[in-house]
Amino acid sequence: MHKNVLITGGCGFIGSAFLRKFVPKYKNTNFINLDLLTYAGNKKNVEKIKKFNNYRFIHGDIRDKKKLKKIFKNIDSVIHFAAESHVDRSIDNSDEFIKTNILGTHCLLEESKRNNVAKFIAISTDEVYGSLSESDKASTENDKLQPRSPYSASKASSDLLCLSYHETFGMHVCITRCSNNYGPYQYPEKLIPVLIKKILNNEKVPIYGDGKNIRDWIHVDDHVEAIEKIWQNGSAGEIYNIGGDSPKRNLEIAKKVLYLLEKDEKNIQFVKDRPGHDWRYEVNDKKIKTNLGWKPKIDFLQGIEDTVKWYIENQDWWKPLLKEAGGRRGLKNE
Ligand SMILES: NC(=O)c1ccc[n+]([C@@H]2O[C@H](COP(=O)([O-])OP(=O)(O)OC[C@H]3O[C@@H](n4cnc5c(N)ncnc54)[C@H](O)[C@@H]3O)[C@@H](O)[C@H]2O)c1
Repeated sequence: MHKNVLITGGCGFIGSAFLRKFVPKYKNTNFINLDLLTYAGNKKNVEKIKKFNNYRFIHGDIRDKKKLKKIFKNIDSVIHFAAESHVDRSIDNSDEFIKTNILGTHCLLEESKRNNVAKFIAISTDEVYGSLSESDKASTENDKLQPRSPYSASKASSDLLCLSYHETFGMHVCITRCSNNYGPYQYPEKLIPVLIKKILNNEKVPIYGDGKNIRDWIHVDDHVEAIEKIWQNGSAGEIYNIGGDSPKRNLEIAKKVLYLLEKDEKNIQFVKDRPGHDWRYEVNDKKIKTNLGWKPKIDFLQGIEDTVKWYIENQDWWKPLLKEAGGRRGLKNE
């Protein structure tokens, strides 16, 4: 059914996990990976699939309308991962977040409309629902959008644009809103790889505030399986929450990673909280579980152990990234 699928941001953490899993599985589908290779994009993430005949990489920007015109000629579905994705960077400077996450999505929607693309899947985040208190119920797809950072506001804007193209032009759009991902190939500016990196370098591990903020963690391989289900069977105009059934406080995560690396909890250093730091995210994902038969398979304790092992064994993947980035903001922690 899907002959040519455009993957945007396929050299990033989640897009590359999708490609590594599904390029070999869907041999009759051509996967075109359009990626700008920003600091977060890395061709090494797709090394394993580059020899497949049904895979092609295009270096480019989702806002490059001329390029999109050429690429879109035969595209029948789009899975849109490309984004600026790090909250701390959006607090420092949100320009690129607005340009990529809002204007970029708009360029893709326009070209999809012009070419009657059969399915447009936009990969969004639970952060668009804003912060929950300890006692709030998990967010459902019908909850109000209350983003509180420039990152989540740009993603919420992107979601609304996508939904408007469904309502106004009848485009088959689906939106996914997933919780915090972890796993291999995550750029070392997000919590779990930062913890691992610091511990392996014998540095203190920085934790924002009192470390009690709660995130629901999902292994990236479970996330991409949910996206596959939506790509194959998702209904037009639907939003699907995706959770990991593993809510944890940041402090618990730090303690677990220290334990796995046989280091003392005394290495935790509490640092000044992030401005506007959301307290808790958790999604109610009954819809995807009931309607599409998906559920996360990877147990958190096993997943985190495997992830720590991967970072130990693949230091030649992440160490050069630190050198390239030098002292740039995103690597301070974070
Ligand atoms: N990481 C998470 O925990 C998480 C959770 C929920 C949702 N999401 C969403 O999933 C998507 C993927 O996240 P990720 O963690 O893989 O991000 P990432 O930062 O690892 O990767 C983003 C990719 O997009 C590419 N890109 C950026 N701007 C581009 C542009 N203008 N044109 C083309 N390519 C561009 C980058 O080069 C990179 O390869 C994002 O939309 C993010 O908002 C992430």
